[in-house]
Amino acid sequence: MKRSVTDYPLAGKRVLVRVDFNVPLEDGGVSDDTRIRAALPTIDYLRGQGCPVVLASHLGRPKGQVVEGLRMAPVAARLAELLGRPVATAADCVGPAVAAAAAALAPGDVLLLENLRFHAEETANDASFARELADLAEVYVNDAFGTAHRAHASTEGVTHYLPSVAGLLMTRELEVLGRLLRDPARPFVVVLGGLKVSDKITLIENMLGLADTILVGGAMANAFLKAQGCEIGRSRGDGEQVGVAADALAAAARAAGELLLPVDVVTAPSPEAGAEARTVPVEDIGGDDMALDIGPRTIAAFESRVGGAGTVYWNGPMGLFEEAAFAAGTKAVGEAVAASPAVTVVGGGDTVAAVRAFGLEGCLTHVSTGGGASMEFLEGRALPGVEALMDGEPDA
Ligand code: 3PG
Ligand code: MG
Repeated sequence: MKRSVTDYPLAGKRVLVRVDFNVPLEDGGVSDDTRIRAALPTIDYLRGQGCPVVLASHLGRPKGQVVEGLRMAPVAARLAELLGRPVATAADCVGPAVAAAAAALAPGDVLLLENLRFHAEETANDASFARELADLAEVYVNDAFGTAHRAHASTEGVTHYLPSVAGLLMTRELEVLGRLLRDPARPFVVVLGGLKVSDKITLIENMLGLADTILVGGAMANAFLKAQGCEIGRSRGDGEQVGVAADALAAAARAAGELLLPVDVVTAPSPEAGAEARTVPVEDIGGDDMALDIGPRTIAAFESRVGGAGTVYWNGPMGLFEEAAFAAGTKAVGEAVAASPAVTVVGGGDTVAAVRAFGLEGCLTHVSTGGGASMEFLEGRALPGVEALMDGEPDA
């Protein structure tokens, strides 16, 4: 357990909060404010403690250059709307003007620094840059779970200079995801999809030792099917992915848990809208066809596993859900996850987008704000941004 803001005396202290406000932008505004909303409880808590609050984040990958389109101004505007109060901005994230602005904050004031990655020192985890960030405050709070897999100046370096604790979002992410690794209510069912087996092979290997059942859909299922001897036509997942899938199948054969693949798929000659779709057993995928969704018999099998689960973790769509003709599998599995009385946890950008598209967010135990971070955590890897925080009281 890491020390949380609620276990550290910070009344009235100036606090530097690393948030993950790396949000999608469209037409100069924030098009998805989920990550901003997710940081509000920590900001409210600190304001309630009378802390002047200095927020720092990266936005995109400007690679050490000032990129006009990646300034934090639209994020500050959205945050101010959500907080219902002004949010001050700065022209930079370090330097004398920023230090003066931070020092001038009154209790409860909020200042959002300019994009950390306008300085190459951020991703290089440069010690003197980290020191400059630390000098802006008396306590450091990391609430940027989505960036915790990066050892950067604002996530790791800064912890060498300030007492460093976890924010409320960070604490919740670690609690919910940690439970999946430690003590999941059983049966523990993992639903994986998406494009490439290679992106999820480490996760599959770790989950084979923890989960009772792994359900595989999406394009990555095609690689497994081919590894088992099915022809997959022009489906994605061919080539080097097949060897990776064969390795995963060998690992699954040795593991206690089961790994289930599709038994039928929806195919079409092309992924375009209007292409003629057919449902076929996986043995009958046509040489010119692409498998683009799981079929109804697979949906039924997956629904029954999900329905009987004590815990479900879902990462990866079951098909090309952006096209209505190939959305049924992802929608049905998503609805089964949402309807399940199990502890339900969803992670990964595409999956969160699917959950939102089908309006299922409110019916899940937890939607992780971390894509890469939640994957690495569930792969069993230590996250540098978490490791660097102070330890909490040992569990009773
Ligand atoms: C994310 O969106 O995955 C995090 O904010 C981390 O961003 P990065 O992949 O650019 O480090
Ligand atoms: Mg990323």
